[in-house]
Amino acid sequence: MQIDPDSSPSPQAAELNYVIKGANPYVFDMLSPKGRRIFFPTAGILAQTAQAAGAGINATIGTALDDAGAAMQLSSVASQLSGGAEGILSYAPNLGKPEIRSAWRGMLLEKNPSLRPDGLSLPIVTSGLTHGLSAAAYLFLDGGDAVITPDLFWENYNLLFAYAYGATLDTFPMFNGSNGFNAGAMRDKLFRGPPGKRIVVLNFPNNPTGYTPTVAEAKAIVGVIVEAADRGNNIVALIDDAYFGLVFEEGIIKESIFSMLAGAHERVLAVKIDGPTKEDYAWGIRVGFVTFGTARGGAAFYKAMESKLGGSIRGSTSSASNVGQTLLLNAYRSPDYESEKGEKYRILLRRYTKIKDILNNRKEYAEYIRPLPFNSGYFLCLRVLSGKAEEVRLILLEKYDTGVIALGDLLRVAFSSTPYEQLEKLFDNIYMAAREVSG
Ligand SMILES: Cc1ncc(COP(=O)(O)O)c(C=O)c1O
Repeated sequence: MQIDPDSSPSPQAAELNYVIKGANPYVFDMLSPKGRRIFFPTAGILAQTAQAAGAGINATIGTALDDAGAAMQLSSVASQLSGGAEGILSYAPNLGKPEIRSAWRGMLLEKNPSLRPDGLSLPIVTSGLTHGLSAAAYLFLDGGDAVITPDLFWENYNLLFAYAYGATLDTFPMFNGSNGFNAGAMRDKLFRGPPGKRIVVLNFPNNPTGYTPTVAEAKAIVGVIVEAADRGNNIVALIDDAYFGLVFEEGIIKESIFSMLAGAHERVLAVKIDGPTKEDYAWGIRVGFVTFGTARGGAAFYKAMESKLGGSIRGSTSSASNVGQTLLLNAYRSPDYESEKGEKYRILLRRYTKIKDILNNRKEYAEYIRPLPFNSGYFLCLRVLSGKAEEVRLILLEKYDTGVIALGDLLRVAFSSTPYEQLEKLFDNIYMAAREVSG
């Protein structure tokens, strides 16, 4: 049956909109036209399949079952799954396996002890964080919207927000004159123009800089957002927590800034996008999570928001990998999970500490390269003081057998992928290439 969503909006979308508007009209105002139209179908194929569950003859399901009723499997596929293919090769529920959704929620509460359990939705499973960001953008972004973000942001935001949804990235200088997070510049962006909808993206530890705000800076960021909300702005805070947990200094926030924003204001909707990709060293598993939090929510509201996001998933990837979710769920239940994770953290911490030493000790570097503030994550950035970063990158490749990323006048260095023993050589090579370019 053909549908024209503009002339006849779905009654299910209308019902969700009614619930959201009733619970928090400000969040309703944040929804894009697409976000208002979308819903997770509770009628149609999914509902009829659910109703037929347990029927003696069940010809509703779009998976192939063998004559004994088990999901068909090719042993060339199944034999690779040492834990057995049972339940893994069929579809996972569209919003994610219930067990991993509640496990991740429990882990969020543990990792962020100041979160109020009733102040957040159940996480929804996406196919990695990029998909989570895109699904969130689906709900809130429309052509002409401005996305406020520090000027040092993950390059893929261009594709995600600008090219896909027609929004513009409205950037502010990430660091102020004292090399701290520039909450003042963010405030200027939030306060420009008459009150209305504002979309902010916060990503800590940040890609590309490897920066996480201090506790005082995080308070300033939240203060500015709350002040803007008090002024009548409705603010969607997209919180990209890809590198959550990888903090290497005291005095910087250990919890996600989501904890501080989720209950901050009724006009603030915090949307946490996170997952195991970097946190659990599981890049190819392609699982992520989206979680909502606001000061004026409630169970029905969160369910409606989950349904909206679920609709965008159903209409794009349909559901995230069952294989991936199952592997992760088993890992989260493993008694070794925490200690294994700690081991990897310590490898990165050791590299981080070594780099701090190198940069402190090699005074001669300062003439050609200057590190931007970094204290967390996978990366750091070096400003090339004379000449072009791209030229330095090419010389590094051609003469020094060394690869880094050039971004404007910066070099992004991933210590996540550089063995400890190569760090001194890496920075020496960068120094020599930068010196060559400047001369
Ligand atoms: C800041 C940031 N967010 C999200 C992602 C993407 O995560 P995923 O691979 O799960 O899509 C990355 C990956 O590089 C990232 O750096």
